[in-house]
Amino acid sequence: MPSTRLKVIVTRRLPEPVEKRLSEFFDVSLRDTDEPMTRAELVEAVKNCDVLVPTLTDRINSGLIGQAGERLKLIANYGAGVDHIDVHTARQRGILVSNTPGILTEDTADMTMALILSVTRRMSDGIAHMKSGEWQGWSPTALLGSRISGKRLGIVGMGRIGQAVAKRANAFGMQVHYHSRQRQRPAIEEPLEATYWEDLDEMVKRMDVISIHCSHTAETYHLMNAKRLKSMKSDAVIVNTARGEIIDENALKRMLNDKEIAGAGLDVFEHENDGEGIDLTPQSNVVLLPHMASATVEARQEMGDRVVLNIKTFDDGHRPPDQVIPAMV
Ligand code: DGY
Repeated sequence: MPSTRLKVIVTRRLPEPVEKRLSEFFDVSLRDTDEPMTRAELVEAVKNCDVLVPTLTDRINSGLIGQAGERLKLIANYGAGVDHIDVHTARQRGILVSNTPGILTEDTADMTMALILSVTRRMSDGIAHMKSGEWQGWSPTALLGSRISGKRLGIVGMGRIGQAVAKRANAFGMQVHYHSRQRQRPAIEEPLEATYWEDLDEMVKRMDVISIHCSHTAETYHLMNAKRLKSMKSDAVIVNTARGEIIDENALKRMLNDKEIAGAGLDVFEHENDGEGIDLTPQSNVVLLPHMASATVEARQEMGDRVVLNIKTFDDGHRPPDQVIPAMV
């Protein structure tokens, strides 16, 4: 007898408890290896499932959606960002898209502060020194970094994560400034003592630290272009835990090499998913992490719970609670 359970195909290996939960409710095909699916495997998947569970490493573009079978009705993304999914085309084809917002907020904000501190306080130099076995004890002049207390933090994108970073930065004594499409309500601005800049250029040139927290869309692609990067103070640093494409990475690399900017802390990279690799090297003023801001056991489990909830709600005949509406993207 054919199964009445939804056919769900998961494109990457997920944490074991998440895979177990998915298997309890649905007719699931799990991934044996932690390799992203090839294009051919993705095509095969969208032809043969009711629900696809992709991750940010899959390109769910119009070409792929165009090859989907009639039965594909939901793309339940395991992750918050949906810049790898053509949400507009999916909607035209009557396919819903959901994501896992809100869950990564605190972990990503924590990692942002870790990057800000790592770069400004030269932690990679300190770690390298300890690893070398050459440390001889305290020195009044060694490894001097710069204090973050009293410094100006410019947050680009004051959504959930931007606000969580602002809260932390406040506790560290930083002055919070922000730019986003819309000004936040006083109820949000006031407790954070956050200053709104309508003009991003005006903000960028005055900040000691710039931290990126907007989503990657056609409008924010290379938002931090060469001109904006060059307008930063030469002793400022930039941190990115959002998406690599928001910064012109080549321009940033040139500026770091030429010491036109003091440093960078990056968890995301422009070409991290297209096989081109990373064209930056960790060095004393550059801290690089492998897209791990949300990598806590708790977050990855809760992301799975949201995916299950989105699919179950859809299966029960309702809209998934985290449905992504194209206008939001
Ligand atoms: C997301 O979910 O979009 C995050 O980038 C994963 O870390």
